[in-house]
Amino acid sequence: MKNDESLRDGLSVARLRRVLISPSILSADFGQLNEEIASIETLADTLHVDVMDGHFVPNLTFGAPVVRCIRTKLPLHCHLMVENPEHYVEAFAEAHAAEFIFHIEASKDAEALIKKIRGHGMKAGVSLNPGTELGALEKVLPLVDSVLVMSVNPGFGGQEFMPVALEKIRVLREKFPNLNIAVDGGINAETGKLCREAGANILVAGSFIFKANDRAVAIAGLR
Ligand code: DX5
Ligand code: ZN
Repeated sequence: MKNDESLRDGLSVARLRRVLISPSILSADFGQLNEEIASIETLADTLHVDVMDGHFVPNLTFGAPVVRCIRTKLPLHCHLMVENPEHYVEAFAEAHAAEFIFHIEASKDAEALIKKIRGHGMKAGVSLNPGTELGALEKVLPLVDSVLVMSVNPGFGGQEFMPVALEKIRVLREKFPNLNIAVDGGINAETGKLCREAGANILVAGSFIFKANDRAVAIAGLR
């Protein structure tokens, strides 16, 4: 199963209900990013890449030039916590992003953005903050490859899981049995289990994996 390409890039995963683990490099040592990624490469399914602009969220990370330097076989799922996400589609496609995840709160014309993302050969994901109602996604849900439910207010790693995410996951799973539903923020073995039970099939985890004494044990604990 692990070598099946359709599982690797997330297709058909929801149907099979095998959970995918997507380590967030936000908690990795950026001074040796490729070595950090290599340490989890054979254990993970996709790589979660947090891009922050200091405007949409009160923190800054990095942009497409750094993403272009990442060396891995894992599909790069780029989570853009930025204003004007439409400005960055081309740059992230050139940086070999597999999926471009934008925030519904930051997009002026989400349908046009999804078309643009697909036109550049990437999958399209949409994310929503803990304070944003699911209703905000109504028009885009039939169009996206995945929904990233935020279980913390985006901006920083190591925050506490907000249970408001669980109800959103349950409602989404009930309405969309085949949708890829990811959850991001405060995920550990316990909260990850609650999210899996609610219907999430992709778990994003930063500090729980990268700050663990044994990353393989941490990842196994999420599955
Ligand atoms: C938060 C980011 C997350 C972050 C999660 O704004 O979107 O991806 O890395 O970190 P943990 O897993 O430590 O909560
Ligand atoms: Zn993220």
